[in-house]
Amino acid sequence: MSDKKGRILTGHRPTGPRHIGHLAGTLENWAKLQDIYECFFLVADLHVMTTDYEHPDQIQNNILEVLADWLASGIDPEKSVIVLQSALPEHSQLTMLFGMLVTVARLARVPTYKEQVQELNLNPSLGLLTYPVLQSSDILVYKADTVPVGEDQLPHIELTREIARRFNQTYGETFPEPDALLSPTPRLPGTDNRTMHTSYDNTIRLRDTAEETTRKVMSMYTDPTRIHANDPGHVEGNPVFEYHDVFNPDKAQVEEFKQRYRAGKIGDVEVKRVLAEKLNAYLAPIREKRSELIEHPDELAEILRRGTEQARPIAQATLQEVEQKMGLRPKELKLPA
Ligand code: TRP
Repeated sequence: MSDKKGRILTGHRPTGPRHIGHLAGTLENWAKLQDIYECFFLVADLHVMTTDYEHPDQIQNNILEVLADWLASGIDPEKSVIVLQSALPEHSQLTMLFGMLVTVARLARVPTYKEQVQELNLNPSLGLLTYPVLQSSDILVYKADTVPVGEDQLPHIELTREIARRFNQTYGETFPEPDALLSPTPRLPGTDNRTMHTSYDNTIRLRDTAEETTRKVMSMYTDPTRIHANDPGHVEGNPVFEYHDVFNPDKAQVEEFKQRYRAGKIGDVEVKRVLAEKLNAYLAPIREKRSELIEHPDELAEILRRGTEQARPIAQATLQEVEQKMGLRPKELKLPA
């Protein structure tokens, strides 16, 4: 059927436009993986609702923004299947059935859940508690064996493996125990040196103009111990140099800047000015593609519709198999090929 190495499922919650952290950490990696694996990329709109269900007017637009960013970054609907989670009820149905195989106590111990409950100081909903069960369903409904994710998602992959194991033990071999695939690029800090996050207003978005990008770069956090341009500076832990490492293709120039910075022989303004230039050159073709895509929302919607229809029979076959094995359907029912 396919000469590829295995099957990938991964995805993002459509929380708004993607930023350069997503690009360098995730999207460029996904784009490469498309040639090695059979890839399913999921727009996880139901997952957004676990923390934000009060803005029904935002989600449709955010789905298109994320999709435009994905495609501009090299996700290719000719190579991969792009799926809208809420449009395939099998994801939710499988969540209900997997819910029988997991205890509430186990879910309450999931670190992402514990953190969110503490941080947001909220009274957790059932939807938030079952977040990782829905994620397990996203993965297992396609029997994916490989899941590219960031470090923070590892507890969810661990739970997915437990659910697969439990199902297989109880009903017979059905699901692979999927492996996480960590991104080879370390996580980029935000422009203020905290974690890059939309809610911190410290991101550079793929849809930002060159002028906005330059402005954000010029006001970036650098070495706080350095007052004058001739003070010796710190390169390590300095986001300006971390960005140079990722986005400036002229490695000799980056090395020279680092040496001069350490020796107090170059000012922050010059290092940032060159970074802005290189970053803008890096982003230019992505921006161009993105702005063209976002002009045609009907075509974006059609790409998502087509991907979702490609995925539907696979999701349906898995759900039917699960229902049969769990005894909800007669055994002699014929499975679709
Ligand atoms: N929870 C993931 C995140 O916030 C998004 C996601 C949803 C996902 N379903 C998935 C990732 C399945 C990998 C596999 O980043």
